Amino acid sequence: MKKKLIQNTTEHFEKLFHNQAKHIFLSPGRINIIGEHVDYNDGYVLPAAINKYICFAISKNQNSECAIIAKDLNEAYKFDLNDELKPIDKMWVNYILGVLHQLKERGLKQGFNIVFSSTIPMGAGLSSSAALECGIGYTMNKLYDLGLSKEEIALIGQKSEHTFVGVNCGIMDQFASVFGKKNQVIKLDCNTLEYEYHKADFKKYSLLLLDSNVKHTHLTSGYNDRRNEVEQGLAIIKSHFPEVKTFRDCSAIMLLVLKEKLGETIFKRCHFVVKEIQRVQDAVNALSNSDFIKLGNLMSETHQGLSKEYEVSCDEIDFLVNAVANETSVLGSRMMGGGFGGCSINLVEKGSEKELIEKIAEQYRTTFGIELKSYKVKISKGTSEFKNIKIS
Ligand code: GLA
Repeated sequence: MKKKLIQNTTEHFEKLFHNQAKHIFLSPGRINIIGEHVDYNDGYVLPAAINKYICFAISKNQNSECAIIAKDLNEAYKFDLNDELKPIDKMWVNYILGVLHQLKERGLKQGFNIVFSSTIPMGAGLSSSAALECGIGYTMNKLYDLGLSKEEIALIGQKSEHTFVGVNCGIMDQFASVFGKKNQVIKLDCNTLEYEYHKADFKKYSLLLLDSNVKHTHLTSGYNDRRNEVEQGLAIIKSHFPEVKTFRDCSAIMLLVLKEKLGETIFKRCHFVVKEIQRVQDAVNALSNSDFIKLGNLMSETHQGLSKEYEVSCDEIDFLVNAVANETSVLGSRMMGGGFGGCSINLVEKGSEKELIEKIAEQYRTTFGIELKSYKVKISKGTSEFKNIKIS
């Protein structure tokens, strides 16, 4: 699939620009084992890059002109790097312009021609947008020696989303896309950006994604609202417990003491965050000890919290999670990513996937009239240059 993607992208480049692309880059989507909605709450997350990519075929220009072709959308955007870069009314362009805007401040002067194409489904919670931002950042950094670290590339991607797209996302997606490593999950401390890799060895289990096919965009979802709610919550907590600097210093007991002051909604949001931060640490231990029953239980607890307390799930995803709850071959299931649609991530016994998918797909179709999609993903390396350019 990767080979085909690269081939299609490079062929399209040749067709449009009558030249072979000089460079090819691949930027992956991500999954997250556990640690949802805590990246912007100073928590820990446990994501990994996956074998679904955006492929960029690119050549430098001698002047400041840029042409970007979104092959899958059959759309193009042309501009001059010397022009002021501002958000426009095309979302995919804004992810890119937001990155380039920052890179101009860091010395980017020369233009380029790019064709990109993707195997990361859009709006499925697999971070196609982070892959796009980080792919562009990484590519420019390599081509024009901008001297950026991987961490800076991830932060630039995140800032692009804040400033040019309007979603106040955390750092998890961009970090996972850039720092991904084959067969390793990343335990990221979102407060310090320190990270460690843990072997993603699920033994006789595998990770299965069930895609609700309900598309989300966090610009119109409740994502930014959740951020505001927890910010308000933290301010109240801090004013009563000055020793609390971040949610990490906050306990469930403190929240109980403040329950009335926080009010029902903000209490629920904060309670989820405090519990989820702990769950990630427990999950890392469970993974290290190959205690998959524990890991699965933690994932399912996360889902309950996301659905009932943080309220970022939706009927379709709740259905998918509930539908596998009594399946002995499934150890854990939860919604993944920002929510309001997208995928559930399931820890399932290897070999049981096919039968499980058929069964759930049937129930899902009958209930919602929507076709279920599923992905068995492999944990792969982060954004990188693809060197074997003679693929076609
Ligand atoms: C989206 C955001 C991330 C993170 C997740 C929820 O994917 O981009 O920063 O907050 O939602 O965990």
